[in-house]
Amino acid sequence: MKKLPKIEILDEKEKILHTVSKDVTFPLSDEDKQKLQDMVTYLELSQDDKYIEKYDLRAGMGLALVQTGDARRAFVIANENDDKSFTEYIIINPKIISQSEEMVYVGEGEGCLSVNREVEGIVPRHARVTVEYQDLDGNQRQVRVREEIAIAFQHEIDHLNGILFPDKIDPKNPFKNKDKMREI
Ligand code: NI
Repeated sequence: MKKLPKIEILDEKEKILHTVSKDVTFPLSDEDKQKLQDMVTYLELSQDDKYIEKYDLRAGMGLALVQTGDARRAFVIANENDDKSFTEYIIINPKIISQSEEMVYVGEGEGCLSVNREVEGIVPRHARVTVEYQDLDGNQRQVRVREEIAIAFQHEIDHLNGILFPDKIDPKNPFKNKDKMREI
């Protein structure tokens, strides 16, 4: 078995998770690069039943740097494909430059590795977003994502602005506008 990287994930009770992260400056140190790669590896292994059982993990497909106590604007995503391989993203200083009008939501509700409780309700998300970002070497790039990956991008970008998914749910009306959006 591959070694599980040591990544400490903070709980929503921590103040830092409710702060706005700062832009990443370049060049990144080797430690920073390694940490981001380790976060990707952690997410991939967290989606593997053997690791879930052995380490008592929660499966996650996205993680923002701020969730590890480092309030800089970066996040990673590891999305499992049908053939069990992963599509990986390391996204630094992201900006959404366009978004679909169509809205979607996760039918079973969103999850977050920092939110260790049941939260009832749905979060409206754009079905597709185009994001400008920098890669590990500071190169400017662009990516267009859709469906669950688009939702993950918006969830992680919210983290960089100190917003957790329960903040976007009205407890008095947790399924507001459900009929105006498509369920994923
Ligand atoms: Ni989260």
